[in-house]
Amino acid sequence: MKVLMVTSECAPFIKTGGLADVAGALPGALAALGVEVKTVLPAYPDLFPLLAQGKEVASFGDLPGGPGRLVEVTAEGVTLLLLDAPQLFDRPGAPYTGPDGKDWLDNHARFAALSQAAARISFDGLSGWVPDIVHAHDWQAGLTPVYLKQDGRRPPASVITIHNIAFQGRFGPHVMGDLQLSSDWFHPDGLEYYGDVSFLKAALVYADRISTVSPTYAQEILTPKFGMGLEGVLNNRAGDVSGILNGIDLDVWNPMTDPALAATYGPQTLDTKAKNRAEVARRLTLDPDHDGPLFCVVSRLTLQKGLDALAGVLPRLVESGGQLALLGSGDPILEQAFQQAAKRFPGKVGVHIGYDEAFSHLIQAGSDAILIPSRFEPCGLTQLYGLRYGTLPVVARTGGLADTVVDANHAALSAGVATGFVFDDVSVAGIDTVLGRVFDAYGDRALWRKMQVSAMRQQVGWEESARQYVQMYETLIA
Ligand code: ADP
Ligand code: GLC
Repeated sequence: MKVLMVTSECAPFIKTGGLADVAGALPGALAALGVEVKTVLPAYPDLFPLLAQGKEVASFGDLPGGPGRLVEVTAEGVTLLLLDAPQLFDRPGAPYTGPDGKDWLDNHARFAALSQAAARISFDGLSGWVPDIVHAHDWQAGLTPVYLKQDGRRPPASVITIHNIAFQGRFGPHVMGDLQLSSDWFHPDGLEYYGDVSFLKAALVYADRISTVSPTYAQEILTPKFGMGLEGVLNNRAGDVSGILNGIDLDVWNPMTDPALAATYGPQTLDTKAKNRAEVARRLTLDPDHDGPLFCVVSRLTLQKGLDALAGVLPRLVESGGQLALLGSGDPILEQAFQQAAKRFPGKVGVHIGYDEAFSHLIQAGSDAILIPSRFEPCGLTQLYGLRYGTLPVVARTGGLADTVVDANHAALSAGVATGFVFDDVSVAGIDTVLGRVFDAYGDRALWRKMQVSAMRQQVGWEESARQYVQMYETLIA
């Protein structure tokens, strides 16, 4: 079976969030099941060294936004088809925003080009490699199913995976003229969304299957509370929507071999976590001789993640004997709130504003618990890293967080299956209450150790989920 993935991010090459981790790891897991994957990805400047090593396999004179070509190169186990279109992608800054932090004004054309390049090679293939399935990720690849249908020939089956329904790729109606689609597509049962064009809605209407990244989120997005306005479109297709949990790359995230750690460890050598804690303390100027639990946050700083509520509970966390190590960036108001907390609680709250992949591994290894009070969370990966590193997740009961963490309630504790702490109310009071339970559990060293070992034994790899994707692909082909 051959699958063409279409994505705007792919780790370790270019990453702003979990989508990149998934796009980077899923192809390898599918390959283990005999699926051949090629991944269409924009050639941003970070990809230029790879571009130089690759081979041109297709060229187009007239994609939305101008000409482009696809360059094939295999790196880190992923076969990439890099969309080389310098007028669209040779730009400084992050993938979607310029150096001023604002979205590029032609994002619609940039990602329409990505989708169209993918659609064009889906029919004739590349030197005999013709995909059976075209698998698009998030709004950036959302027009792929539309271009497949527009072609007129019989297209391969298409899948859209929603990694976060909050990001919809919504643009004013004027962009229609740049998409190389006739105005016939612009209607309420097509690309139109309240007078605008929505790339994600387009995918939800025209893809053959819709998946998202956890079973709970697949249910949640059918409701107004989580559907962000697209619940109606999704309910029309409820039979085609499913949730497949993300996994993590067990080689990249392995505390026994991780080169980013001060000291590696496993379930039998959990005391060694202390060496990592000491290094985190040194780097964030936290008191090194502190006895209480070290909590961490590794996150985009946004309202989605509930970190405004967490900021409000920091005085109590510190008063109760906890420390916090935070690595994150995003909303300037949240950045300031945490920087101020670090000044107010020297030695107790350590904050690094920025993005640092290696440090994220060290913090996971050095902390006792990871806090993820998200208001919604399609899957979440940092709780899975936490489980793998014996760093107990403290999570809101939503989306993939609810599906992956077993709360330390009486029943789970007596059955020996508890792996973390799950709470319902994302508010200062709600977080305060769950922290009380965490401090109690931390006080019982044997219990805590047992939970760490259960957490580390949990299956968090891609094996099972990759099988579910294959099943979905097989049903579509049949
Ligand atoms: P989302 O995709 O919504 O941001 P996920 O939990 O799925 O949430 O994925 C976030 C990914 O980004 C994880 O791999 C996490 O470790 C990483 N990450 C988030 N913030 C930072 C940061 N400041 N530095 C390094 N890695 C980060
Ligand atoms: C999104 C979601 C996150 C998920 C990730 C990968 O960014 O916010 O919950 O884990 O995509 O699917």
